[in-house]
Amino acid sequence: MTRDTADTPGNTAGTTDSPGTRPDITSTADTSAGAADAASTAAVSAVPADAAPTPAVSAEAVGTADTADSAGVSAASLGTADAVGASAEAVRCAQLVYAFGDTHAVDGLDLDVREGEVFGLLGPNGAGKTTAIRCITTLLPVPTGTVRVFGHDAARERMAVRRLLGYVPQQLSADSGLTGRENVALFARVFDVPRRERAARVAQALAAVDLADAADRLAGTYSGGMVRRLELAQALVSAPRLLILDEPTIGLDPIARTGVWKHINAVRAATGMTVLVTTHYMDEADQYCDRIGLMHRGRIRALGTPVELRRGLAERQGADTLPTLEDVFRDVAGSGLGDNSGGGFRDVRSTRRTARRVG
Ligand SMILES: Nc1ncnc2c1ncn2[C@@H]1O[C@H](COP(=O)(O)OP(=O)(O)OP(=O)(O)O)[C@@H](O)[C@H]1O
Ligand SMILES: [Mg+2]
Repeated sequence: MTRDTADTPGNTAGTTDSPGTRPDITSTADTSAGAADAASTAAVSAVPADAAPTPAVSAEAVGTADTADSAGVSAASLGTADAVGASAEAVRCAQLVYAFGDTHAVDGLDLDVREGEVFGLLGPNGAGKTTAIRCITTLLPVPTGTVRVFGHDAARERMAVRRLLGYVPQQLSADSGLTGRENVALFARVFDVPRRERAARVAQALAAVDLADAADRLAGTYSGGMVRRLELAQALVSAPRLLILDEPTIGLDPIARTGVWKHINAVRAATGMTVLVTTHYMDEADQYCDRIGLMHRGRIRALGTPVELRRGLAERQGADTLPTLEDVFRDVAGSGLGDNSGGGFRDVRSTRRTARRVG
């Protein structure tokens, strides 16, 4: 497989569009997308405190009022990123194509994520989820088709897009050699949180994910669940309108997984934030996602609420009982569209690496 040139430093996240630029989220050597994102964070940490350019990450709302209360989050405390014009679509991808050499990772993707919803992008290893997400976050260019985030063109208005979103990459992005507070403060700088507000916003983001007490410990001493919550705080500190989470609960035990979702939902309830999430846990998708897009071989193959998808399969099969979302997944992913079920070496390696580091 040929590595796309966009993955080389300087070709993606735009190291030159400062101020208000994201860190160069591109990798130097590692060819896995997730590692590239993680490497970007590492690269940012090498940037002197106030010289860091500005990306755009944050998180806002979803979930129920009581979960919001339980986490002590309020709209006032976390705020929202610049309110750009209202748009019914948080994300709109039209005929997006992205290829790594001969591999069409994304192959004519049409995807609409409505403002305020939790949208689950599901699909087997290698379906193209992370690649699509990296185009939406502007970490990869948009070679063919269009990507819009709250109406902003990801190809032409990269900085405007970045200012609206928070991103937790598939690969871990927290620096184990920094404290929780320092990690979040780094993102606050990089994502252009005004200097006079930074300390308070960092503290609020840490409190929102229940890490206030552990804020001054090295992240290297955190449990897997705490690390994922720390990454959530990093993504929330800039108060994004769109939070993008690429397998936020991979490798976590069921209690830690619930904890991550509790905090996502609390912030969402408080702020109205839109969430785009990938997960291989069908129970999570069923429980937490308003709508689901099942991706396979670079395109959405099934779309609807979890119940709609399950009912649809029941009708097709003439079944009396409602199939599970896992049944729907198997039906779509095993539908003869591909012969690479289970993903290749790259996909397994990337997934295991994250799971190992979290677990
Ligand atoms: N940097 C890269 N260079 C070459 N090929 C790549 C690169 N990143 C991804 N691919 C390939 O593109 C395809 C889609 O990968 P992608 O990571 O987007 O899938 P995914 O749906 O996120 O999978 P997973 O569930 O395993 O995370 C796969 O065939 C993968 O091997
Ligand atoms: Mg992925």
